[in-house]
Parts: sequence; C-alpha cells; structure tokens
Amino acid sequence: MRSHLLNDTTAERYRRTATAAVERVADKLAATDRPFTGITPEQLAPTFDAIDLDRPLGDTTAALDELESVYLRDAVYFHHPRYLAHLNCPVVIPAVAAEAVLSAVNSSLDTWDQSAGATLIERRLIDWTASRIGFGTNAGTSLGTNAETNADGVFTSGGSQSNLQALLLAREEAKATDSAKLRIFASECGHFSVQKSAKLLGLTPEAVIAIPCDNDKRMQTLALARELARCTSEGLVPMAVVATAGTTDFGSIDPLPEIAELCELYGAWMHVDAAYGCGLLASRTRRHLLDGIERADSVTVDYHKSFFQPVSSSALLVRDGATLRHATYHADYLNPRRMAEERIPNQVDKSLQTTRRFDALKLWMTLRTMGADGVGELFDEVCDLAGDGWQLLAGDPRYDVVVRPTLSTLVFRYIPADVTSPAMIDRANLYARKALFASGDAVVAGTKVGGKHYLKFTLLNPETTLTDIAAVLDLIAGHAEQYLGESLVHAS
Ligand SMILES: Cc1ncc(COP(=O)(O)O)c(C=O)c1O
Repeated sequence: MRSHLLNDTTAERYRRTATAAVERVADKLAATDRPFTGITPEQLAPTFDAIDLDRPLGDTTAALDELESVYLRDAVYFHHPRYLAHLNCPVVIPAVAAEAVLSAVNSSLDTWDQSAGATLIERRLIDWTASRIGFGTNAGTSLGTNAETNADGVFTSGGSQSNLQALLLAREEAKATDSAKLRIFASECGHFSVQKSAKLLGLTPEAVIAIPCDNDKRMQTLALARELARCTSEGLVPMAVVATAGTTDFGSIDPLPEIAELCELYGAWMHVDAAYGCGLLASRTRRHLLDGIERADSVTVDYHKSFFQPVSSSALLVRDGATLRHATYHADYLNPRRMAEERIPNQVDKSLQTTRRFDALKLWMTLRTMGADGVGELFDEVCDLAGDGWQLLAGDPRYDVVVRPTLSTLVFRYIPADVTSPAMIDRANLYARKALFASGDAVVAGTKVGGKHYLKFTLLNPETTLTDIAAVLDLIAGHAEQYLGESLVHAS
C-alpha cells in the first residue's frame, strides 16, 4: 500500500500516473463535441450503486478506466463554446499546471511552517489585487514593511465565504451592543450569500434590507438613502451596505461612488461584492466601470469567475488590514500569540479556514505566464460578445431581452407571436431550457424577472462566437415551439 504514497521513492510512479491522468483528460477535452451528454440522475445513479467502495480496483489505470463512466463521460464541460449557463469559466493552462504542483506539494496556508514561500506568494497577490482596487501598494514587500497602505486580505474558498468574512468584520466594527438592531443593505439583485451570511452571523431575519434596482438593475441610491435614514431614525444600526459589482443575473454594477458617499454619511461598512466583476481589474479598456471601488472597506473577488481560474480561487480584500483581527484566534498548538509578536507570517491569523489550499499559486502562474493584460483581454472579449449578442436579441422578434449588458450576461425569453397566456409563455421557456439540457447541445441558465421565467446566457468563454449564440437561440425557439405545438394538440 505504501507504493501509493507520494514520496522520494515513488516519484517515478507519480510521474507516470499523473501523466496518464492528464492524457485522458486532454483526450476528453479535445474530443468533446457538446457540453453535456444529457444524461439524467436516474440513468446515471445505477452505475454508482454498482460500485463497492470496500473493494478497491488496486491500480490507478483501472480506477481511471472506471472514471470514464462515473465522471468524465457525462461531466458538464465548461470549455465547450455552447456551455452558456452559470458563472463558470474555461480555465487557463498555467493555472491548471499550478493545480498539479500545489496538490502534489500539498502546502497548507495556515502557518508559515506549513507554507514557506507559498505564504509570500499569496501575500504578493493580495497586495497586487489591493493595488489594482486602488487601496494603495505595499511597495512590493510581502511582509508589509515600508507599506504605503494598510490594505490586506486573504484567499478564500469562494465568493460566499469572502462575503461572509466581510460581513463578520462589518458586524464587529459596528460595535452595536444589540445585534438585533443591525441592518445590512443590498440591492434586490444582490447575491443570496448576503442573506446566508446574516443568518450565520446570528442576525435577525429582518437584518437584510433589499433595495430596489433601476431599469438597468443597479441599486437605486435614492431608495438606499431613504432606507438608511428610516433605519437610523428608528434607532437601527446600518452595519453594512453591500454594493454588487457584477450582479449574478445581469452583470450590473451598483453606483459605487454614490454608495460610498452614503456609507460615509451613515458610518456604514461598504462592502463591494465584485465576485463576478473583478475581471475588470485586469481590463485595459473597462477598468473605469469599477470607479469608486477604492472607497470600499472590503471587496470580494472571485478569480474563479472572471480571471479564468479553476475552482477554488477567491479572495477578500480589506482597506484596513487591522480589521482582519476579528478573524484572529491564537492557539498554542498552531499560531501562538508570540509568533505574531515575532512577525512570523501565519495566514491563519486572517482566515476563517485553518487548513487551506494554496490556491494562490494558480493566479501566480497565470500572471507570471500571461500577465494581467492577457487575463483582461479574455474578459473584454466575452463582454464584447455579450454586447453583440444583445444586438442580436434586441433585433429578433422572437425574443424579449432584459437589459443591455455591462459585463457578459444576457437575460431573455422566448415570446411566441400568437400566444398571449403568460403561464404558457413561462412554461414554453422552462421547457426549452430543460429540453436543451436533455439534448446536450447547449446548456443555458434560467432566472425570474418580475415574476416571469427568463433564460440566461452567462458568457465567460472567449471561444464562444456570435454564430454559437444565434444557433442556440434557434435551438431554444425550436424547443419552445415544439412545446407549444404539443400543448395545442393536447388542448384540442
Ligand atoms: C455576485 C456574486 N457574489 C457571490 C457569489 C458566490 O460565489 P461562490 O459561488 O464562489 O461562493 C456569486 C456566485 O455566483 C456571485 O455571482
């Protein structure tokens, strides 16, 4: 059994095994002719039921053979140009190469004595991101000496965790004695992790106040001002405003400068959820869309969305690094207080996690290989594509499209010319999405706008073309028409 452990004596075996695994995936990626096979859970489940986990196959080749039927054959492939559903991106090769390195070395980013080097890579990337946000720069010193800024941050498992940690810091900074009085303001298009975080932080069910959006799906700052004033007059405490820079459905960016003004006026923590829009930090043409982000107290960035990084890769950045102390606990067995006094860089002092993957290496390899401009160009391409897709949809009488995209999503619905029943139109769109998924020809997402069912393209693949978009729109129309035709037959 020891031959399965990776060490000095098994390095050659590791080389062969890892190469064999990579070759299979490379073959698979090259041969993928549609994003999904369309298999159902019922069809796939028996394969798993037949596997006895207490009877191992003994060698990796056999396990890889088996993997074909339990995973690789029916996986949903994000690199396919007709995967247009959620905020998943195709990944860049330098980052995938980094995955191989980081999992084999297996550093853990909690303490320096488990992650020498890795800790400094993460710190440099936090500093780099902070300076792109406009928080200032640490003058290239990973230990933070000669710093022009107090900005800091930490890598996390994803946007949900980054938002949770941001709101934890906001709650502690609010210093309210009665947590029932704390209020968080987020737009009605904000991410649901805000509500989840509030619950995890022990806030009341009323704690999150949804601020209406304008026609462009951006938070209405007049409504925010009204709510802040109302809450304050009622003795409630505005703990935080969550501005979204890239809403999940519409990619809309809340008016950051106006929100910053209001936060200052009311003493509320300003958090910018840029999980999706963070790719703009690397764009040479669209960075201005994030103007005002530099006034935030904290920012969520998901490199695994718009920096083309493999899951997981996210970070929380804070303007004042001292606020990260609210996540600090010292344990004699791991990070005793004296280590902080000796300035030993233990990242666990800033993190909600203890054992933590060295995800930062992926972004490091990406920046060292392609540079930030390379990443920004990829994100610009998908934003350009969304603009072209919007024109296509706006000129297509079969479709209603919701807002002109700021980033790379398109929300639309099929509207049959001769059907007036709103319920029927809803059902036709729901059916089209399901039928498309079952066919495996393309994968699209769905959402609701004004209580009606809509479809959504999230464009994060620079390989997707306008021809792909047009073809998928035709497929959707075909499925919707088929549904309506069959419904008419049944009704008559
Ligand atoms: C705006 C926004 N914030 C936060 C998240 C949560 O990120 P994650 O899925 O990485 O936890 C998402 C996910 O789509 C998002 O769109």
